[in-house]
Amino acid sequence: METLVEIADFEDWRTAVDAAVKVLRAGEVVALPTETVYGLAADAFNEEAVAKIFEVKERPSFDPLIVHLGQKRDLKKVAAVPEELADLVKKLISEFWPGPLTLVLPKTDAVPDIVTSGLPTVAVRMSKHEVMRGAAKELGNPIAAPSANIFGRISPTSASAVMSELGGRIPLIVDGGACADGLESTIVAVGMDGGKPVLWMLRPGPVTREDLRKFARVAKPKSSGDQPEAPGRMEGHYAPRTPLLLFDKPEDFVPEEGKSYALLSLRGEEKDGYVGKHEWAVTEVMSPGSGKVSEVGVRLFHLLRKLDESGVDAIVAEPVGKARLGAAVMDRLQKAAAGSGSAGG
Ligand code: TXA
Ligand code: MG
Repeated sequence: METLVEIADFEDWRTAVDAAVKVLRAGEVVALPTETVYGLAADAFNEEAVAKIFEVKERPSFDPLIVHLGQKRDLKKVAAVPEELADLVKKLISEFWPGPLTLVLPKTDAVPDIVTSGLPTVAVRMSKHEVMRGAAKELGNPIAAPSANIFGRISPTSASAVMSELGGRIPLIVDGGACADGLESTIVAVGMDGGKPVLWMLRPGPVTREDLRKFARVAKPKSSGDQPEAPGRMEGHYAPRTPLLLFDKPEDFVPEEGKSYALLSLRGEEKDGYVGKHEWAVTEVMSPGSGKVSEVGVRLFHLLRKLDESGVDAIVAEPVGKARLGAAVMDRLQKAAAGSGSAGG
């Protein structure tokens, strides 16, 4: 199959949205930009179209999808918000939508089981990107869209990254530029615990624990219980094919004779302990000079992909602080380290 690319014009998103909706109405899949990562989109209410997402991504059917809304009032089409959570959900939506926050809520009957992998809950968000939001609005149905990569691999943050993942497998990619956040949305399951609303943090992301704490208690999901599990939390996601090594301290890195190593550095500075530690075959810097974690977020997947293609034997990543967005960055680095060096999981 030939994969066409439609460039979304910043002045006028309509042409790109129209092209995307045409594909969606035909029951096909299309890669669309969001503010987090590119998504592989299908009409969420069309089961056959949704099945194509799983097929194209080689995604196991037990891993549920996120649905994207065109407007806030469409939430009731997909989620049945319990009375006791209505106030919290309203506040979260008014603060963070459109934006990178995904809520897991009880689903309505309108959402096909294939979307939620048979779970009684649905993960839902409204993207800040005009193309994703505009496409859902024009289609009139929510859009199911996981990240537009082969299952377990690095999420794409540009149209060219989507092309290298899914080129030849899908009819259309809408190129809306580089993703502004560069990390997947934060996922929280909204529930009750001890008679009070709670946000179970299923995946850290651009909306941080610190941001959410103003609205409710934020808790780590218990390993068993009635709140949903996010299968995406399993290790081995975001994995480069090249082994990725992550150490507690620079001294722990002992290079193997005859192997070439790349460094994924935070600031590119000697004083952080890694730059001068070895003759790196390649060095990439996540946040040149400043060490700003928002910059790291935007560049992380792009640089991982680049180093993965550089031909080194292994990549060493410098750790970042876990406050705020750092929690999401470390989550991705740890999962990438756990799953790297294989064909992906
Ligand atoms: O930023 C994002 O969220 C991107 C863009 C395209 O919107 N999408 C994305 O989708 O990251 P995906 O499929 O790569 O990750 C969605 C995660 C998966 O780990 C899945 O297990 C979890 O959400 N999930 C989906 N529905 C769920 C549910 N009902 N309960 C718990 N976890 C769920
Ligand atoms: Mg994904």
